Amino acid sequence: MRNQLKDWVLAVPKAELHLHIEGSLEPELMMQLADKHGVNLPYSSIDEVRQAYDFENLQSFLDLYYLGASVLRDEDDFYQLMYAYLQNCRANNVVHSEIMFDPQTHTARGIGFDVFMPGFQRAMHQAEREWGQSCFLIMSFLRHLSEVSALATLDQAQHYLDGISAVGLDSSEQGNPPEKFARVFAKAKALGLKRVAHAGEEGPPAYVWGAAKVLDVQRIDHGVRSIEDPVLMDYLLAEQLSLTVCPLSNTKLRVFNHMQEHNILELLDRGLLVTVNADDPSYFGGYLADNYLALIEHLPLQFDQLQQLVRNGFTASFLPEETKAKWLAKVDSLN
Ligand code: HPA
Ligand code: ZN
Repeated sequence: MRNQLKDWVLAVPKAELHLHIEGSLEPELMMQLADKHGVNLPYSSIDEVRQAYDFENLQSFLDLYYLGASVLRDEDDFYQLMYAYLQNCRANNVVHSEIMFDPQTHTARGIGFDVFMPGFQRAMHQAEREWGQSCFLIMSFLRHLSEVSALATLDQAQHYLDGISAVGLDSSEQGNPPEKFARVFAKAKALGLKRVAHAGEEGPPAYVWGAAKVLDVQRIDHGVRSIEDPVLMDYLLAEQLSLTVCPLSNTKLRVFNHMQEHNILELLDRGLLVTVNADDPSYFGGYLADNYLALIEHLPLQFDQLQQLVRNGFTASFLPEETKAKWLAKVDSLN
């Protein structure tokens, strides 16, 4: 039974809605690029990099994530990073993906939109051409920085907005509530961009309310702490505001101590539009399929629940309705 579920989830077309491209930087590419650019990293081998990935909380991960991103310097680095992720999508039947990137991590080092955007887009166009990969970009603001910095970033993106579907909000959650970014999200909305925000990962349900009501988001990234607020749960249910849940991330960053304690099935059974995602696959020990496999392994997941999670990935996506319907029919046909 468990094996049948695993085979099914590997074979079925899947969508991924919460993936940080900088978090897909594998240690091999990190070391190779550090070598190429003469960047000094505090690791002497690939094994040492992997051993460092033992996190206590979100911040201890973010410190290494920003350090790792420091090896990304020229257009080809960003191309290689994106193309490697998209090849992984192909190998695992992830047919559509909405990919976050953190411009401020790069602009702070003097690396501009004219470097990373052409690199990302070259890889995306190649994957579309070569095997029909579907992918969108989400430009995420770093919430530990000021709103002025986010507004400047939105300005810098002005010539690239055609290639960007949405804005997002990530980095250190506690102490940086969504309300801090009210103006920049309003401006993004006026520019026709969709909106998502990390909330309720480490932060309280009040931050999920702020993302929903003040930032007017279409999706909440993580949102697992919503369960602490029954009124919020009713709201998320009524609005079908989706949660992009990342199981391996949550256990790696100790939001839950064990996968057996994860609340994803409770959220799903309450009727919420819950999706499964990898977040930062290189740092958290697995890509999208691995996240599904971990749920099958550790939770009493039934086929109809698994199917619902996969369906939700398409339903909660920013794909046009007719494309969603096409993929949902494919998911339903694979029984
Ligand atoms: N939370 C907040 N910021 C992040 C994350 C995350 O899970 N991954 C990359 N940046
Ligand atoms: Zn994330």
